Amino acid sequence: MTSALFSPIKLADLQLANRIAVSPMCQYSANDGVADDWHMTHLGMLANSGASFLVVEATHVERHGRITHGCLGLYSDACEAALQRVVNHCHRIGKAKLAIQLAHAGRKASAQRPWEGGKALSEAEDPWPTIGPSALPFGPGWHAPRVATEADMARVRTAFADAAKRALRIGFDAVELHFAHGYLLHSWLSPLANKRNDEWGGSLASRLRFPLDVVRAVRAVVPRGVPLGARITGSDWANGGLTPDDAVTLGKALKDVGLDYIDVSSGGATAEIRTPTSPGYNAPIAERLRRETGIVVRTVGMITTAKQAEAIVTEGKADMVALARAFLDNPHWGWHAAQALSADVARPVQYQRSAPKLWPGAALRG
Ligand SMILES: Cc1cc2nc3c(=O)[nH]c(=O)nc-3n(C[C@H](O)[C@H](O)[C@H](O)COP(=O)(O)O)c2cc1C
Repeated sequence: MTSALFSPIKLADLQLANRIAVSPMCQYSANDGVADDWHMTHLGMLANSGASFLVVEATHVERHGRITHGCLGLYSDACEAALQRVVNHCHRIGKAKLAIQLAHAGRKASAQRPWEGGKALSEAEDPWPTIGPSALPFGPGWHAPRVATEADMARVRTAFADAAKRALRIGFDAVELHFAHGYLLHSWLSPLANKRNDEWGGSLASRLRFPLDVVRAVRAVVPRGVPLGARITGSDWANGGLTPDDAVTLGKALKDVGLDYIDVSSGGATAEIRTPTSPGYNAPIAERLRRETGIVVRTVGMITTAKQAEAIVTEGKADMVALARAFLDNPHWGWHAAQALSADVARPVQYQRSAPKLWPGAALRG
């Protein structure tokens, strides 16, 4: 049996050994955006997880665009230098290709780390002003964002492009834009958060204008051979919110402005929304995106077993899968998936004797 999950795939000019990605996961462990030894450990471990594509956590393009005081950034030379160490380390010791998820938290910025409560920062916690498409808070008790002006939009657009330049300079293999989970670009698209009545709000076409401007600015600095993707929302799971139809429109628009792939996630537009928790809950929307846009599609959300991931790819629901919590639980998830599907996966030479093929009769030396 040949595994579809473990078959290679190309994103732009980047060759990936299999279709498994580690989903981006905030670690809330940076200092003014600067990565520390935790990132070396965490990402170093996941660079050898069996996933061919390791997407680094939401990395914010400006200081006020961070979710929390601990969020990673790429807006200063100090951020760049620290992340360069991490990238070099992962490339030297690991097998995965590295993508960076560039983000701006918008109205969800200035928040506590999850283990501190995950709510808006109080006056005593050094909060900062936030921006959004409209002056609507994310939920009760959240900061009311300032309505983004055209000057804010120009600054943010440039910040995305500058962060992408920094990312390429320090050796990232791919760039992914965060268009989901209620952060700035998603909030701009969602009618639940964007109530503007100027040319940047109203119809979906108008709500798309600013996010697409950002993509164009980033594409202009990311060479065509380097994959540029986006994580989008497949559904707001709320009346009056974005629907899978809107996701298809977005997917086509993103393809037209030169994106190489889309990752389908969902939820997070407002504090009240409850996202489904059933196995592979985004896969049906991903399948539609894939069929109707023709772009390479990855999906995420409650994918936990090798069999389930294999089925998603075999059945054409997505070209790739991303897993988050399963990799935290088992950083060798990809090795075990390969074993379950009788496939091969790269392991570091130091750990090669853990490969099941080497078990029978293998001499236990050393
Ligand atoms: C600790 C943690 C941090 C996360 N941080 C991010 C992030 O930085 N960017 C993002 O797009 N999603 C983030 N997510 C969402 C995951 O990438 C993923 O979409 C979600 O957990 C569903 O996938 P799963 O069921 O495989 O965990 C995070 C999830 C977890 C558990």
